[in-house]
Amino acid sequence: IGRRFICSMATEPLPKQVDETNMDAPKEIFLKDYKEPDYFFEKVDLNFQLGEETTLVFSKIFVSPRVEGCLAPLVLDGVDLKLISLKVNGKEVKGDDFHVDSRHLTLSSLPSGKFTLEIVTEICPQKNTSLEGLYKSSGNFCTQCEAEGFRKIIFYQDRPDIMAKYTCRIEGDKSLYPVLLSNGNLIEEGELEESKQYAESLTQNLDPCTRSHAMYSLKAAMKWDEDVFGLEYDLDLFNVVAVPDFNMGAMENKSLNIFNSKLVLASPETATDADYAAILGVIGHEFFHNWTGNRVTCRDWFQLSLKEGLTVFRDQEFSSDMGSRPVKRIGDVSTLRSYQFPQDAGPMAHPVRPHSYIKMDNFYTVTVYEKGAEVVRMYKTLLGASGFRKGMDLYFKRHDGQAVTCEDFFAAMRDANGADFSNFMLWYSQAGTPRLNVVSNYNAVAKTYSLKFSQEVPPTPGQPIKEPMFIPVALGLLGSDGKDMPLSSVYHDGKLESISNNGQPAQTTVLRVTKKEEEFVFNDIPERPVPSILRGYTAPVRLDSDLTDADLHFLLANDSDEFNRWEAGQVLARKLMLNLVSDYQQNKPLVLNQQFINGVKSILCDSSLDKEFIAKAITLPGEGEIMDMMEVADPDAVHAVRSFIRKQLAAELKNELHNTVKNNRTSEKYEFDHQNLLRRALKNTALGYLGSLEDAEMRELALHEYKTATNLTEQFAALVALDQIPGKVRDEVLADFYNKLQHEYLVINKWFALQAMSNVPGNVENVRKLLDHPAFDMRNPNKVYSLIGGFRGSLVNFHAKDGSGYKFLGELVVQLDKINPQVASRMVSAFSRWKRYDEMRQNLAKAQLEMILAANGLSENVFEIASKSLA
Ligand code: PHE
Ligand code: ZN
Repeated sequence: IGRRFICSMATEPLPKQVDETNMDAPKEIFLKDYKEPDYFFEKVDLNFQLGEETTLVFSKIFVSPRVEGCLAPLVLDGVDLKLISLKVNGKEVKGDDFHVDSRHLTLSSLPSGKFTLEIVTEICPQKNTSLEGLYKSSGNFCTQCEAEGFRKIIFYQDRPDIMAKYTCRIEGDKSLYPVLLSNGNLIEEGELEESKQYAESLTQNLDPCTRSHAMYSLKAAMKWDEDVFGLEYDLDLFNVVAVPDFNMGAMENKSLNIFNSKLVLASPETATDADYAAILGVIGHEFFHNWTGNRVTCRDWFQLSLKEGLTVFRDQEFSSDMGSRPVKRIGDVSTLRSYQFPQDAGPMAHPVRPHSYIKMDNFYTVTVYEKGAEVVRMYKTLLGASGFRKGMDLYFKRHDGQAVTCEDFFAAMRDANGADFSNFMLWYSQAGTPRLNVVSNYNAVAKTYSLKFSQEVPPTPGQPIKEPMFIPVALGLLGSDGKDMPLSSVYHDGKLESISNNGQPAQTTVLRVTKKEEEFVFNDIPERPVPSILRGYTAPVRLDSDLTDADLHFLLANDSDEFNRWEAGQVLARKLMLNLVSDYQQNKPLVLNQQFINGVKSILCDSSLDKEFIAKAITLPGEGEIMDMMEVADPDAVHAVRSFIRKQLAAELKNELHNTVKNNRTSEKYEFDHQNLLRRALKNTALGYLGSLEDAEMRELALHEYKTATNLTEQFAALVALDQIPGKVRDEVLADFYNKLQHEYLVINKWFALQAMSNVPGNVENVRKLLDHPAFDMRNPNKVYSLIGGFRGSLVNFHAKDGSGYKFLGELVVQLDKINPQVASRMVSAFSRWKRYDEMRQNLAKAQLEMILAANGLSENVFEIASKSLA
């Protein structure tokens, strides 16, 4: 049993980060304070000696001062490290010339030119529950360096503009650690002298079937990046690693992408269609980072969206090309509305490029990722596919191998196209979701149609007053025949602009709305059109217009833009839900309007439509979306109303929904292919409606689907359908599911989440019990996200009037913070919108935030979210 070693060379540096904080007071770091480092690191040689108790890390750093003769001290970041030895130019450094505190190693009296720094540190990966730095997960060592993790491995200038080249050598007992992987290309591997230790191998062999979808996704992503962006992979090897304990989704380490196992492993029995789709997207995402993130990286962490917004955009486009573009867009916009809009309207609102942070970990947000992707999408909308491609080409030509800023990306897009982008950069600096209002007017005599836009960006923390944004608005005008009218010219800003697609009148045009108030007048419009505004959702704004319900029904039936067809239905549903919420609050009986039922019915029965589109179109806007639109969010009313509408639709359309289930059953074996996926999506949505009925026949149906399912997608959907009504059937089927699938931990997480999200009153007690379930483990983020994260999604129980839900979460945040601050911080954010609720709930939530802030030894992560929430 020898000790094995490998040596490899990363051609790109690992992602890193700067921190100037000192122990006691959490310190805010500002973008405006960015300074180039005084010392550059040219090369770093690392050697890891892995051990069961401790691990030794030898680092040799080749330092060169930015300015010759620099006298500044060299400050290295380092957290939870034991310094074993320290040499400059091969000589042990004297006590007077260095200083170590809990966060830094500071060196003074340094040589005036280039020098080498050799540092040995000792770390305890086995005790590291934060899952950043080097830690052990299910018997495997794993590193996580982004954003501030590298400082938990060695003393280093842990910031992304240190562009060193690395070599990395790993040594370990072969029997314990049979597989050693590092970044970059392999230089050498081999065996060392015999080791005295012996232990059984802990590596599990994966069933090849569970990784075939990830492999398929990777190949597809590689091909797509070559085809669409002309970007090829640049190394001789590429590894995808699955780890069960991971804070985030995945990580783009050069040639060694690391994934949360739920985003790699999939078989028909253990993963749903949604999981398969997520794997495709995330495998793509991490692979695409090789160019957008690794070869071109961020100068500092404020620029995070430079790589994340762009890479999310790239993965969205990839998934669209692999499946259905409109359906993908609908899903992404729903996510934006349900999660990013509320963030942008609350105390944690921040621009796509934040101005400051206490813990960078807290800024891996839906704003930086999803809104950031929308910003990139706007460039493409404005420049067209070929203009966007030119911009990307120039970006790589200029910046390959560099650490750059959002301005550099903007400049590449602008310069490659000679484009005028006016105030577009405001998208990076102004937080808050712009409100865009449109008033229309048809002049039958002049045959002109006018659209008056006005915009308002709401105040956000630190930004009371905003400037108007540059909003691209894709637009079409429908005639009474339901067809797009040809658009030839528009009068705007005192000029007549022609609109054409290669000489042909356009059917969709992109208006550039840049002022607080602005009018566009279309000529040669023969009749009053119905406008289809913001086709494909070309800007992340809240749109209000003077469209009537009749206009919306017309768009729902006719719009050539599928996104806006869906959107028209959503606008109608949101209006309807808000009206019913107000009826509920005034104790009026709830009545569902017949026109709405008919609308849903006609979509459900329209065989010309894509089945997945139907599934999306008959799904009501989420509870969070409705709460977000209310003056004072009322969880009880919103939940009651949404459940009422679902039940009412199910009752009225029982036959149609039943037929939909019967006609869309899967007969052959499971395939993650488009046709089967569509069918399952529609069937499962229909079954979900039917499960809301207290109807013996429909419960039989759901039970039948549960028992006969050949794949998790349909089996779990049947379980979800049955979960809606408390009672014996529900209890039995939940128990049966656990018994059958208890060995599949990823599936059991879904089982935890389903129960945690339940709106059965008093469910908090059940969730408390599940904390003691043998399959639950607080140290595993996935389990926490399922059970505790899931609970936050229960309107009835998280927001229970007796405060039991808030108390439960508050206590858990304090416990979790001791184990894993990043995960605790994600959980505490559920409190951040406490001011949105009634006074009683406000007081209850506030009390929990105060309790958390008073906890001993609170992490900076949780401190930042909790204190900003209270501010
Ligand atoms: N960079 C990762 C991604 O988006 C996210 C991540 C951040 C993972 C921090 C781990 C830690 O692909
Ligand atoms: Zn990413």
